[in-house]
Amino acid sequence: METTTVRSPGERVETVTAIAAAGLVKSFGKVHAVRGVDLTVRAGEIVAFLGPNGAGKTTTIDMLLGLSHPDAGSVEVFGRTPRAAIAHGLVSAVLQTGGLLKDLTVRETLRLTASLFAETRPVDEVLERAGIREIADRKVAVCSGGQQQRLRFAMALLSDPGLLILDEPTTGMDVEGRRSFWSSIRADAARGRTVLFATHYLDEADEYADRIVLMSQGRVVADGTTSEIKNLVSGRVVHATLRGADQVALAALPDVESVEAQGDRIAIHTKDSDAVARYLLTQTPARDVEITPQNLESVFLALTSEGEAA
Ligand SMILES: Nc1ncnc2c1ncn2[C@@H]1O[C@H](COP(=O)(O)OP(=O)(O)OP(=O)(O)O)[C@@H](O)[C@H]1O
Ligand SMILES: [Mg+2]
Repeated sequence: METTTVRSPGERVETVTAIAAAGLVKSFGKVHAVRGVDLTVRAGEIVAFLGPNGAGKTTTIDMLLGLSHPDAGSVEVFGRTPRAAIAHGLVSAVLQTGGLLKDLTVRETLRLTASLFAETRPVDEVLERAGIREIADRKVAVCSGGQQQRLRFAMALLSDPGLLILDEPTTGMDVEGRRSFWSSIRADAARGRTVLFATHYLDEADEYADRIVLMSQGRVVADGTTSEIKNLVSGRVVHATLRGADQVALAALPDVESVEAQGDRIAIHTKDSDAVARYLLTQTPARDVEITPQNLESVFLALTSEGEAA
């Protein structure tokens, strides 16, 4: 799908849409893994797909790659069906498992993969870009998990795809491994490649993406720039024991976003935890006041229950 934007008279700028997914639904028996996902990604964007275990990230990615068919909805990748886009070398994936033959060396693996395409980038170039030139002659069997992920990345680069999709590519890597893997991806993306990656880590999404799509329980619950999404997670939670708390009064305090109560224990989400704590300790008989950072899980929960209520 291509749209044309007119910037000024006579100047036409083409905005290519890399991914256009609408109303995607996928169930496995009774499990509603994906419940109506709309996703548009413009060429050149780096998008993080962030969500807890079981959110539906992999199920969505599998549909984008044509590995499974949606029960409802549609997907186009560069204006084609996912399978056609893959056949034309327009999209490649780095998945977590499978696809490597242990007895081949890194270089042999790339040569073999290259032979499946009509036209590819040179093997030495992708070895360099994936940062595995030094281990080119090593057998896959003795490569570490991180090195195998780099090999999958190199394989994905062979067809010089416009879109690269990575499903939690750094799981199991140590901090340094993750950092250096992502700097290779980022250096590569700087050349204009569109990248969509799934992750559990807000810091990874924040550091390497322009945009974050938050997924929870099969739905997109937030979609925005990394700073917009980080803002959602920026507050703190003030916990206290307070019998018969006046939730309405608490919710009316400045900068309070929400108030939850479980028995006598209350949790107040706020951007000004000092003011809330001061109020609780001076104006109410609250005890056991605790202040904790707002975490991603609580944001997912809040956004998901809002979505449910709407
Ligand atoms: N082939 C399958 N058969 C049955 N249930 C499945 C299948 N694939 C996924 N599911 C279920 O669908 C839901 C979404 O799973 P999915 O793998 O898409 O989540 P995810 O966001 O990728 O999670 P994770 O972060 O753990 O990788 C889960 O409840 C999962 O158990
Ligand atoms: Mg997954």
